This record gives sequence, structure tokens and C-alpha cells, in this order.
Amino acid sequence: MCGIVGAVAKRNIVSMLVNGLLRLEYRGYDSAGLVVVHDAKLERVRSAGRVAELATKSANTYGELGIAHTRWATHGVPSERNAHPHMSRDLIAVVHNGIIENYEELRTELTAQGYEFTSDTDTEVIAHLIHSHYAQGSLLVATQMALSQLVGAYAIGVVAADNPHQLIAARKGSPLLLGVGVGEHFVASDMSALLQVTKNVVYLEEGDVVEVNLANYRIFDQQGNAVQRAVHVSELDNDSVELGEYQHYMQKEIHEQPQALANTLESVCNSQSLVPGIFGAEANTIFPQVESILILACGTSNHSGQVAKYWLEEIAGIPCNVEIASEYRYRVSVPNPKILVVTISQSGETADTLAALIHAKATGHAFTLAICNVPESAIIRQSKLRLLTRAGPEIGVASTKAFTTQLAALFLLTLVMAKLRGRLNADREQQFLHELRHLPAAVQKVLALEPKIAEMAKHFANKHHALFLGRGMHFPIAAEGALKLKEISYIHAEAYPAGELKHGPLALVDADMPVVSVAPNDTLLEKLKSNLQEVKARGGELFVFADAQTHIKESDGVHILQMPEHAGFLSPILHTIPLQLLAYYVALEKGTDVDKPRNLAKSVTVE
Ligand code: G6P
Repeated sequence: MCGIVGAVAKRNIVSMLVNGLLRLEYRGYDSAGLVVVHDAKLERVRSAGRVAELATKSANTYGELGIAHTRWATHGVPSERNAHPHMSRDLIAVVHNGIIENYEELRTELTAQGYEFTSDTDTEVIAHLIHSHYAQGSLLVATQMALSQLVGAYAIGVVAADNPHQLIAARKGSPLLLGVGVGEHFVASDMSALLQVTKNVVYLEEGDVVEVNLANYRIFDQQGNAVQRAVHVSELDNDSVELGEYQHYMQKEIHEQPQALANTLESVCNSQSLVPGIFGAEANTIFPQVESILILACGTSNHSGQVAKYWLEEIAGIPCNVEIASEYRYRVSVPNPKILVVTISQSGETADTLAALIHAKATGHAFTLAICNVPESAIIRQSKLRLLTRAGPEIGVASTKAFTTQLAALFLLTLVMAKLRGRLNADREQQFLHELRHLPAAVQKVLALEPKIAEMAKHFANKHHALFLGRGMHFPIAAEGALKLKEISYIHAEAYPAGELKHGPLALVDADMPVVSVAPNDTLLEKLKSNLQEVKARGGELFVFADAQTHIKESDGVHILQMPEHAGFLSPILHTIPLQLLAYYVALEKGTDVDKPRNLAKSVTVE
């Protein structure tokens, strides 16, 4: 989704702004722009394409104060005229993430006051509103007055042509950070844009407005009171967002999974037993009261929740429901204060998941746990309990290492719940801990199959559809494989629990429909084999990811990828890897933009 970078310094900040936008490209966008204040004028450069084009266009631009933006179109088509920054009468410039819900009514009022609109965006009203108040006060006061008229979500950056050393920023419903330098300051919607200049960061809170100057800054809360916010030192380093030896971030992130899993499991694997405290101190009192679990998440994160349902019910014996966050937030459900509401989110900022969490709390759910990859994110801050996945920054839009680390975290939740419910004796606990310690090495072994999967991918390059089959806890893995394929290769892919094949999708099977099957050596194997026969008998081409000892044989129309031995309950994590690689190599064959698939965004901060 949209990204913001801003800077005030005693040096030319244009390359910093552009580099910051490059770091935010992964969030997904369709146009980019920046504005600098120079010689008491606003100098704006915009491009309907990539940030690289903006870099070329702004190569000779100079400014010591500026704001920049990548836009993911919501109101108005992606075009240069709709790209941010938006300006009011060459005096005020604004960049904005989020959606202003009452913009039509504000636009009508501002038009009546004589303001001329040059874009179709909701953002332009903010620029004119600030302008309309600017004559009566400072840029800070004018911005605060404008914000009080807005309904909706925003993170904004504001500069004025006649104010060469000051930037105003504010947030409500969209993330925004303040980067603290020496004699210079920065703002950004994401830490990765700031790592090039500072690791010292202030996480602005809901409703905060900040006046950013060269030497200092002042933060005001929603009521306008001056407040102090802690300065944190980010744990991220610049290398963690570099591509290094890899061709794409997705490939890099697939290969980072052994390390990401090891990091996520570090504290647990080094200990001798599992304790609720890994989810936060209050887990000791909350978990024993929990009667059932409700998981809320979107996209890939929802798939990890679906796998966890199988684990939680089978291993811990605790009822579990998994809901799409955007559905839950609007349906009438039956609240039960004994439910543990678990939100899963890579970014911690997904608008639907955040809203679902807030809705759950409003209906009386006090037990909330976030499984998230971003510390200090909105979802973390809204939750009582938390477990941070330690996957490191995930840049590729198609989620990979965030997913497998979420699974690892959810497995820990399962084990802790099982233990509290008397379903995990000491031997079994030690056995699971041993398997978790071995997990990174097991994933590494699956990654070694990469060349074979790259070969397999060639069969998909000219196909338009694909079917993914799985059973039991591997059905959500099949769904995740289908999602990966459609996201980055644009091949239409659907997943079915294999037993459902005969109730409809079998009608689609012919030689043009590759059928991918996740075939672990588990109790459902014989059932799955029968389902595969149904496909073969109809001339379908099968691609089977089979554990050792499944005895499924390669034959005409049946391609086998030999997986390592079955990994018990952790098998879904291992079976995810080849499906990620398959999608990646099919996308390479098709020449799509792997890390930035069309129309998609990494962090969906609008509804
Ligand atoms: C977007 C991303 C997906 C992600 C989903 C949920 O659609 O493209 O990769 O799974 O949002 O994001 P979250 O950050 O909440 O896990």
C-alpha cells in the first residue's frame, strides 16, 4: 500500500527520499512523487510509473526539506495527476496514506470557497483544508484544525513553501514513524525507509501530530497536549533489507526460512520446557481460563490459522474457529469472554485484521493474543498477549517466511495449551521440542530440492489454470500453494480438500489442468491416493509432492517430487517450501514481476 518518506536536514535530501521510496516499493504502488521546498517555492516531481523513473526525473532537484510518496490507487486511477504530493495554491503540499471518508462533502465545501481541484483523490481535500486555516496560524495549528474535520484513516506529511525548515506529520489508523537524527529528522510509514539514515525511532501513536524541525521535534496527542514518546533503537539493520546474492526478495526470503524459524523458536528451543509466559506475563492467568480459540486473519496469515485449527483441536483438545477478518468484523457473532482471540498478521497493520480485533474487543473479548512479525505495530499494541515471529523484514509481496514462522508460533501455542490441559506429558513435550530444534535443518533439506522444482515449473508456464489438492492439515497448505501461484504467476489456481474433488472440480480436469497434490505419508494417504487415481483416470496431469515411503510412482502424467521423510505434525511447514518454490519458478518462466505482482500490496492498510 501507499508509503511515506519525509526529511528535514541541512543537506540535499532528494536522494534520501528516493532511496526511502525504493525501500517501500515492496508494499505495492502504482505511482510515485515528491516535493521539496527550495527558495520559498514548492518543487514537485511525479511519475505514473516506478520509483526509478521518479529518481531520473528528480536527479537535478535540490531541497533540504521534502516529502515523498508511493501511491496505491484507491480514489482515482493511477496517473501522474493523481500521484502525491497534492498541493494547494503552490503553498501547501501533502502526502497521505489511508482513506478520507467524508472527502466528497469536504470537496463540495472547499469548491464553494473557491479551491480548485486538480486530481480525483481524497487526499487533495487535506491540502486545501490546511491552506484554508494556514492564514490564521502556524502550519502545526492549521494541520490540527484540518485533521479535526476529517473522518477516516490517515498518516500524513505536510510542508509549506514559506516554512523551509519544518515538516508536520500525523497519524490515525495508518502507521507513521519519526526518525531521530543529529540535527536532522525524518518521517516514514515503515522503518525500512529510515534505516539508511537512523536507527533511532519514535512510534507515533493514534491521533499524534508531530512538528518536526531541524534540531528538535514536538509531539502532540489527539487532544493537542504536548506528550513525550520513547525513542526506540530499531533492531533491524540495513543488510536485512538488501537483496544480496539473490535475484528476487521472494527467493531470498524462501531461503531465509531455516534462520527465520531458528530465530522464532530460539528462546523455546534453548529451554527445557514450555511455559505460557512466552506469550507475555499475563498468559499465566489468562490461558487457564480459555475455553476455545478464535483466529482472525487475512490472506496467507489466515492459512496459517487454518493449519493451527487442526493442531489445536487434535493436540490440545481445544475448540478452534478460524475466520477471515474482513467477514468477522461485519457479522453478528456470539461473543464469549472465555474465548482467546488470536490475530495473525505479518505486518501488524492490516486494516481488516486490526478492525476485527477492535470489534472483538468491543463485543466483550478481553483475551487477545497477536502473532505478528512487526514489534510496536498496531495489532501488537491492541493485544494483551503477543508472540513475535522473528522472520525479519519481508519485502516480497507474496508472503513466505512470515507464513512458516507463524506456523512455528502457532505450534508453540498449541503445545502450551496442550500442556495446560493435561494433554502433553513430559516425554511428549521433550519429543516435540526435539522436533522443533530439528525443524530448520529439515527445511534446509527441502530447499535442496530447488533445481527439481525449477524443472517442474516449466510444465506450468503455458497453463491458465491449476488445481491444488491436500487433505487434513495439509489442505490449508494446498490453499497457500494455490494463493502463491495466483499471486505471482497470474495463473488461476484453486485449492480443494482432495475428498471434495468428485463433488465438482473433477469436471474441470483434463490435460490442460495441472493438478498439484500435497501427499504426506499420514493417515489420509490411502484416501488421497484414491483421489489421485480419479484425476489420472480423467487424463489430468499430476504433480505430486510425496513424502518418502508413500510409494507413489512416477508414470505417464504423474510427476513426483520426492520429499524427505514425513515430519509428523510439523509436516505442513515442510510441505509449504516446495509450493513456494514452484510458484516462484513458474513466475520466472512467465517473466512476471515476482516481488511486486500487479494490483497487490504488501501491507493492506485500507479496508
Ligand atoms: C496482503 C499481502 C499478503 C498477506 C495479507 C495479510 O494481501 O499481500 O501476503 O498475507 O495482506 O497481511 P498480514 O500483514 O496481516 O499478514
